[in-house]
Amino acid sequence: MFGLAVALMAMGIQSCGGQTRPENKSGHDLWLGDITVPVVAVNKELLKQYDKEIGDEGFRIKKNDKGEAVIYANTQIGLMYGTYHLKRLGECGDLSKLDKEIVEVPAYKYRILNHWDNPNLTVERGYAGKSLWKWEELPGKIRPEYEEYARANASIGINGTVLNNVNADARMLSREYLEKVKVLADIFRPYGIKVYLSLNFAAPKHLANLKTSDPLDKDVIKWWNDKVAEIYSIIPDFGGFLVKANSEGQSGPQDYGRTHADGANMIADAVKPFGGIVMWRAFVYAAESPDRAKQAVEEFKPLDGQFRDNVIIQIKNGPVDFQPREPFSPLFGQLEHTNIMAEMQITQEYLGHSNHMVYLHPMWKECLDSDTYQKGKGSTVAAETLGKVHGNTQWSAIAGVTNIGDSVNWCGHQMAQANWYAFGRMAWNPELSSEEILNEWIKQTFTTDDKFVEPVAKMMLASREACVKYEMPMGLHHTFKGPDHYGPGPWDRSSRPDWEPAYYHKAAADGVGFDRTSKTGTDAVSQYHEPLKSLYDNVETCPENLILWFHHLPWDYKMKDGHTLWDELCYTYEEGIKEARGFIDTWKSVEKYVDPYRFNQVYERLVRQAKDAIWWRDATMLYFQQYSKMEIPSDCTPAQHTLDELRRFRLGISNYETPALDKLPEYTLE
Ligand code: GCU
Repeated sequence: MFGLAVALMAMGIQSCGGQTRPENKSGHDLWLGDITVPVVAVNKELLKQYDKEIGDEGFRIKKNDKGEAVIYANTQIGLMYGTYHLKRLGECGDLSKLDKEIVEVPAYKYRILNHWDNPNLTVERGYAGKSLWKWEELPGKIRPEYEEYARANASIGINGTVLNNVNADARMLSREYLEKVKVLADIFRPYGIKVYLSLNFAAPKHLANLKTSDPLDKDVIKWWNDKVAEIYSIIPDFGGFLVKANSEGQSGPQDYGRTHADGANMIADAVKPFGGIVMWRAFVYAAESPDRAKQAVEEFKPLDGQFRDNVIIQIKNGPVDFQPREPFSPLFGQLEHTNIMAEMQITQEYLGHSNHMVYLHPMWKECLDSDTYQKGKGSTVAAETLGKVHGNTQWSAIAGVTNIGDSVNWCGHQMAQANWYAFGRMAWNPELSSEEILNEWIKQTFTTDDKFVEPVAKMMLASREACVKYEMPMGLHHTFKGPDHYGPGPWDRSSRPDWEPAYYHKAAADGVGFDRTSKTGTDAVSQYHEPLKSLYDNVETCPENLILWFHHLPWDYKMKDGHTLWDELCYTYEEGIKEARGFIDTWKSVEKYVDPYRFNQVYERLVRQAKDAIWWRDATMLYFQQYSKMEIPSDCTPAQHTLDELRRFRLGISNYETPALDKLPEYTLE
């Protein structure tokens, strides 16, 4: 696990009458784990006055004239974060950074993990075993993992966790479950982590047999007010709710002819007196729409300004659904009077589950750094969600759908821990680079030896782009097979047109890609501000890594490098295959720095990843070939299966599992 082997006890911080103060008030030096620097912790009591610059969660670390590193914080939590920071510097070999004063303040106020965990212990899109929360044992039995989880999160600055699936079971709000939730809340509290719950909008009907769950009905309003008061009587610092409403079959205010604002405000009013928030998801789409990518803006823009101030609209990074590459969701740049936050997916639903090594920070950073141009240049997604564009910084928030389960290594794949780590560090400081965060993780998890760190960092940094290339390059999206979302299935059929890959790739004799242009397409480009609208609209200027997201192009369309579109697709897949193959060689070259258990765990997955890369290419290009009638260039890896064989292949797993390595199509690597 990453550098979390430190508890406050290690530096002798004790809780004292609601305050925390170091044992060395009398002047004894404290030593922090293996760090060879004396540490002194100073809290509010010793600071005498509140240090505004660092606020409630920040800290400063300054060396005093005795050479001791002194952590200053206004609160116990600030001291804890400072402690972890110091520990990180020590483990990364960065103690020289103490030569200058360090001031750290978290960027986002709400830094939240979303668990998609069900009461029956399954985890939706969870690839690391079962749920960490053993509901059947709670509140009686407390597992040590609960506190370890809290410490891991605290070490990277996470301060909130939604414990249950957005496809919420109403039972989570029953007294029985609230007593269980309370146990977790009590364990997490000293680590600065609040608990939140996903709610089922139809809970008044399910739990109390009310005739309706209409948000304007007075009995319904009363039920929610009473329920919320009950929750706060059990968990006084309960964070609030996450809501998936009128989406993918979930109940919501529209069932009663009401709006998302009506629904969100009813809940927001109930939690407001207790300081709670409502994170209302913008992930809504209807099967009938000609373009799913447009629907969040269509639904939420007309409601701008109607939401209470403690409602935050939670928007997935892209307009469709966590694909390996999407443009940023245009909704980030469309609301002016509504709080918004980003939802990133840490679990690799569409990026090879816990079988593939894909370091995701570059993908999230690409989104946060994207400029919406809402108020001119500099209105990046980060600035929007930090509340800097519209001056609502007190509601700044970011969420990550976790990859955590009860598997021994927490995340299923050793390297997937880097994504949990990176999400926390990014929420604390979105300006940190992918490389900085990754280096920290590698050093704390394996070794600080450059001979290991450099090649492994290079490999992991390349992994997201490699995954885009071998799964869905050049703006292709949703070409996976349902319902497990693991392998390729461009031919796949479903009960809804917008769950079928053909809705998105539109492969036909005349070409491939989704026409979202203003003149001939769905005009989704108009949801972006200039200059992006024109940039995407014009095939000449549209970035080629998104070209098939916005344009439907003939197979022989000439790309900038002179290749036909067909050849370019083949060669891009080929690059992905080669890069995935190269990861195996890199990993083999650092074998001596890793213990055999972790080496093998990663090695066998990298082999599968490289095989899956060929599988993705075979399935996609052989399927497209039926329409293009063009040949795969002879210098590309030969196909190892026919289209028919691949179409017949069935994984047969649920939405709660990752496929076993030996249950996947057979491939050989040369
Ligand atoms: C995806 C995912 C679902 C999930 C949904 C959501 O569609 O496949 O399992 O429930 O996203 O984010 O609500």
